[in-house]
Amino acid sequence: MGKNKISRFAENLTFDHVVQPTFTQLVHEGLPQRGRWNELLFKRDAPLVLELGCGGGEYTVGLARLNPDRNYLGVDIKGARLWRGARTAKEEGLHNVGFLRTHVDHLLKCFGPQEVDEIWLTFSDPQIGKARKRLTSPLFLARYKEVLKPGGFIHLKTDSPLLYEYTLEQIAEHKLPIYEQSNEVYAELVPRVSPEEQAVLNIKTYYEQMWLEEGRTIHYVRFGMN
Ligand SMILES: C[S@@+](CC[C@H](N)C(=O)[O-])C[C@H]1O[C@@H](n2cnc3c(N)ncnc32)[C@H](O)[C@@H]1O
Repeated sequence: MGKNKISRFAENLTFDHVVQPTFTQLVHEGLPQRGRWNELLFKRDAPLVLELGCGGGEYTVGLARLNPDRNYLGVDIKGARLWRGARTAKEEGLHNVGFLRTHVDHLLKCFGPQEVDEIWLTFSDPQIGKARKRLTSPLFLARYKEVLKPGGFIHLKTDSPLLYEYTLEQIAEHKLPIYEQSNEVYAELVPRVSPEEQAVLNIKTYYEQMWLEEGRTIHYVRFGMN
């Protein structure tokens, strides 16, 4: 393992706002934060927003800067990646940011029923040829339905036409409401929404910046589970 990774893992252990559950906690004991993220991590009651597969946490941190009255939790399996967001949040004194290092398959072990207000899926792996593993597969949608509050949102921002079209198909099949949709975020959607929404959509992740430099088009859909 590289020196960089080792020092990032070590620093993650010193952060109060990074939670790294053990297998025993997840499978046998139960995660103490489940159903109590606001109380135990953020120490205040506020809407809870997740970014699943957050990487360096650019959306988690960017949204937290824009909306200090909401609590943001980035989830990723890779500790060396989420370290970036955790470090930035600490340096900027953002008390509404946390990170959870775990596999997104453990979602129901980590969050209680109706604990979450919104979920962001940012540049998720399109899982070519493995539809079941996509973060908008029926399996994941069922999990989101359980943890989301009634009226909660899911945001998908992606460069992948495959994942975008697949998600629209799932939305149609499950008869879910769409609140916003565009297959061209920057040329079509950003110019027609409010300045507040523009600020949200203009946040760019590490992967998004790479794809934009390659000239790829960015797609977005915001939908609900009921
Ligand atoms: C393509 S990257 C996107 C990262 C970030 N959202 C961005 O846009 O820069 C996908 C991320 O999802 C994470 N990931 C993939 N599968 C995961 C899983 N099963 N559980 C948790 N994280 C996962 C990876 O570690 C990676 O950071």
